[in-house]
Amino acid sequence: MPEGPSPSFLFQPNLFQTSVLLQSIARLALRREGAEPATLRMRNTILVTGGAGFIGSNFILQCMQQKTDSIINLDKLTYAGNLHNLDSVAEERAYEFVRGDIADRALVARVLETRHPQAIVHFAAESHVDRSIRGPEHFVRTNVNGTFALLEEARAYWGGLSADEQKRFRFLHVSTDEVYGSLGPDDPPFCETTPYAPNSPYAASKAASDHLVRAYHHTYGLPTLTTNCSNNYGRFQFPEKLIPLMILNARGGKPLPVYGDGKNVRDWLYVGDHCEAISTVLQGGRPGETYNIGGWNEKLNLEIVKTVCDLVDEMGPPLPRPRRELITFVKDRPGHDRRYAMDARKIERELGWKPKETFDTGIRKTVRWYLENDEWVRGVTSGSYRQWIETHYSS
Ligand code: NAD
Ligand code: TYD
Repeated sequence: MPEGPSPSFLFQPNLFQTSVLLQSIARLALRREGAEPATLRMRNTILVTGGAGFIGSNFILQCMQQKTDSIINLDKLTYAGNLHNLDSVAEERAYEFVRGDIADRALVARVLETRHPQAIVHFAAESHVDRSIRGPEHFVRTNVNGTFALLEEARAYWGGLSADEQKRFRFLHVSTDEVYGSLGPDDPPFCETTPYAPNSPYAASKAASDHLVRAYHHTYGLPTLTTNCSNNYGRFQFPEKLIPLMILNARGGKPLPVYGDGKNVRDWLYVGDHCEAISTVLQGGRPGETYNIGGWNEKLNLEIVKTVCDLVDEMGPPLPRPRRELITFVKDRPGHDRRYAMDARKIERELGWKPKETFDTGIRKTVRWYLENDEWVRGVTSGSYRQWIETHYSS
């Protein structure tokens, strides 16, 4: 069983020490693309896709704190990607950003061949259900075709590794609880064997990508890992999603649009806990397996919104009336899943991971972060963001 969440899972102690030495020499000597001789290639390098997004950037920052791995961040920088999330590591030698699309196979092949990663952690996706309802095509393009392209290039690259490197290589695919569909009030939470029943174009595109990942393990032997997690919350989440949208609207005294009756249930997972879970799976997960990750925090949407109101009343600028009065029930999302809940016992039993944050502590940190990081908020709430808010909430 691994001792902690460090993602340096790739080496036995002796090999690891050697690799650190080689890595230092290699870094000092050669930083340019393609300039490394084969003997210096055994670096602890992770290719992260979608690392400028919400979870990916939190994951990279957590990895960089461990100081054990080099990170290559491949991100297309869609509206949801924000390089400012990574300002604190941008100049570090162990971090490199490559702007590009996971569906660009030539680029992916070049990155793999020249950077020689021992793992791919695949976050890149279109991730917002409401956007998938308005425009599903982008979701199929990135989540399905993009994942397919990445798998194909990963397979070709992996096929060219030495037997030892092949054994250590991992392709970790980050997915969602939404692939399992919707639960009734008394149903047991989703477990890894729950049949897939996606209901939104987003969920369907993620389900398709999960199936491709599974097939690449069973057919070609690619050492894949899949994690399915519940709703994340925390710093750097784009404010189209429930919690940051409600914090920012509440701060500004704007209406808080709750879909339907507000009684849909989600299981909330603090993003820092999720990133540790991913590192844990990368380190100790069994190839071909899937792991459900959840926060054991089932809450009604309305409960979440009320909690946010109370915290913004406490920590934010004063308003003449309690912010709960800003809650406005609006037309429901089509096909809105009623309840998600994750059974996260497998990852706890097999790998020793469980969430550290309670919802009370996590939501407090999150509200404070959004209130204190006005520059970040201003950076992401201009242009395309305003356009989305105007289109989506006007109808
Ligand atoms: P996000 O929308 O905040 O970020 C996605 C990132 O991917 C962005 O930086 C974007 O620029 C990049 N990207 C999009 N298309 C790309 C492409 N074609 N090529 C390269 N980069 C591209 O997403 P997130 O919330 O950080 O989610 C990350 C992953 O976790 C996704 O796969 C998502 O399905 C999954 N997930 C998220 C949640 C959640 O609550 N946020 C829950 C379960 C699963
Ligand atoms: P969201 O953050 O979009 O995540 P997901 O759809 O992936 O679960 O939404 C979380 C819940 O909050 C979901 O049940 C829809 C609801 N919701 C609202 O009620 N109002 C809103 O403005 C948004 C964005 C979401």
